[in-house]
Order: sequence, then C-alpha cells, then structure tokens
Amino acid sequence: MNFYFSHAPEDTEKIGRTLGLALKKANVRQAFIALRGEMGVGKTAFTRGFADAFAVSSVRSPTYTVVNEYRGDTLSIFHFDLYRLEDEDDLYSIGFDDYLAREGLILCEWTEKIPEIVPNDAISVLIRRTKACENDREIEILFPDSLDISL
Ligand SMILES: Nc1ncnc2c1ncn2[C@@H]1O[C@H](COP(=O)(O)OP(=O)(O)OP(=O)(O)O)[C@@H](O)[C@H]1O
Ligand SMILES: [Mg+2]
Repeated sequence: MNFYFSHAPEDTEKIGRTLGLALKKANVRQAFIALRGEMGVGKTAFTRGFADAFAVSSVRSPTYTVVNEYRGDTLSIFHFDLYRLEDEDDLYSIGFDDYLAREGLILCEWTEKIPEIVPNDAISVLIRRTKACENDREIEILFPDSLDISL
C-alpha cells in the first residue's frame, strides 16, 4: 500500500504523475485505475498529473461527455467520469467493453455509481479529505497482486 499526504492541488497532481511515471517505466500497456473519493476531492487533479507523465496537458473533467480520450506520447489515456450515468446500460452503449479491451490506461472517476464494472485487477486510488485543513487530502494507492510496482 502506498500512502501520501497532499496539502494542495499541485501535490495531488504530483502524486498522480508519480503513478503515471511508474506505469510508464514498467511498460504497463493496459490498466484500469479506479479513482474514488467524494465530490471535489481531487480525482480530476490526480488524473491531470497522471496524464502529464504521458505528455498530455489538457485534462478536463469529462462529466458531460462520460469519457475523454487523450493520445499520450507512449499510450492512450481514457478518462471516464460515471457521475451522470443512470446505469450500466448507458456505459455499454458508449462502448465501455471496447475501451477495456483496447491498449491504453483507463482512469475512472465515480466507480461508486456502478462498482461492479471495476475489473478485479484494477489499481485503486482513494482520496480522502482530512479534518485538519480544507486543502488537506490523504491518498492511498493499491496495486493488484498481478502488478509488481513500487512507487
Ligand atoms: N490537496 C488538494 N488536492 C486536490 N485538489 C485540491 C486540494 N486542495 C484543494 N483542492 C481543490 O479541490 C478541487 C478538486 O477538484 P477536482 O475537479 O480535481 O475534484 P474531483 O474529485 O474530480 O471532483 P468531482 O467529483 O466533481 O469530479 C479543486 O478546486 C482544487 O483546487
Ligand atoms: Mg472530477
């Protein structure tokens, strides 16, 4: 388990970048990263930093489009936000299965809405507010047994 403290959006981005760089270094070509945490906690900020590891600098919340695709320098990045989805059918109608099968890294916000779609070998990123300060966050990153990665 990897545990971090963040005190500002830039810290959260940096932790995201650390994960991105680690996957890049290990040449991981396919992964599902489930980003969990309440509204406004920093899931998109984390994704922005992650994408920066792949030379992508234009990450915006995909809330209205469900998924944004970015062509990174070595891999595609698919950024999902399930917040506005009604049910699993909506997800499959946008070709979710195809995304799972494609080469590339999926970062998915709001899997809490449809937890059953998270693959067993997903990487889990959990972001929590702490009571101490408005901008403080705790970030936990968990890898599946199948991935031998250290941050
Ligand atoms: N330590 C921190 N890490 C990340 N964001 C922070 C931090 N402190 C303050 N913020 C602020 O919290 C907000 C995080 O927004 P962001 O869109 O990344 O959250 P989110 O979890 O994706 O939200 P949503 O559930 O609405 O998609 C930003 O306004 C950012 O400036
Ligand atoms: Mg978001």
